[in-house]
Amino acid sequence: MKKSLQIALDGPAGAGKSTIAKSLAKQLGYVYIDTGAIYRAVTFRALSDGIALEDGPALAQMIEKMTLRLVPSEEGQRVFDGEEEVTNVIRSSEVTNNVSFVARQPEVRDALMDLQRDLAKHGGVVMDGRDIGTHVLPNADLKVFMTASVEERARRRHEENLSKGIPSDYELLKQEIALRDKRDSEREVAPLRQADDAHFLDTTTLAIDGVVQAIERLIEEVKA
Ligand code: CDP
Ligand code: CDP
Repeated sequence: MKKSLQIALDGPAGAGKSTIAKSLAKQLGYVYIDTGAIYRAVTFRALSDGIALEDGPALAQMIEKMTLRLVPSEEGQRVFDGEEEVTNVIRSSEVTNNVSFVARQPEVRDALMDLQRDLAKHGGVVMDGRDIGTHVLPNADLKVFMTASVEERARRRHEENLSKGIPSDYELLKQEIALRDKRDSEREVAPLRQADDAHFLDTTTLAIDGVVQAIERLIEEVKA
């Protein structure tokens, strides 16, 4: 029986990846790895340092000097850039609306590949992102591609913002999410797409528990 699996969860913004990945990791005693946070931390640093977001070589040089650390925590994952904790600042709308420009630079993706693979090398991980099943962990034991309608994904983010007291405009969120999906799906390197051997899960009408249960069944099949 296989024990420490590598589980890859990919999909567009608001599909529920991080919520589901955290829940699965907790139940399985695995580590949750949010790869989007890595691209966000790089974007945050580039914005802070005034580096052009489309200048791949300059961004790669900047990444070489960064010491990015993902530390598992009760809430999921904390992110450090050297000694500075950036867990919360990388969620700003400025970072959210710029991260796709950084993430589409081939030099950036290359520079971040080893870090991601290294984090998953011993298994026992649930890793979420856009290209985990297609590029980062092509041999993952289980791959799931999750999606939901853009209206539902925007609604979820809207509700999440309101519950945290963050001002939120549903129509604007919908536009921003659709634009980010388009950029992530249409980029040349490692675009957002379902791996051939990934299980497809449309969560539009599924509650979180239903999605977790569906993936738990897939995990049991893999382990058996
Ligand atoms: O949480 P949310 O779905 O809004 O996004 P995220 O997972 O934090 O990812 C932020 C951005 O990073 C995405 O829109 C992609 O541009 C990029 N990303 C990527 O290119 N590859 C990954 N494996 C993960 C994220
Ligand atoms: O990581 P990703 O961007 O794919 O999505 P998320 O941050 O996990 O989920 C976005 C929001 O949708 C969170 O507030 C979740 O609680 C909610 N959600 C939901 O209502 N129903 C689901 N089936 C999945 C997530």
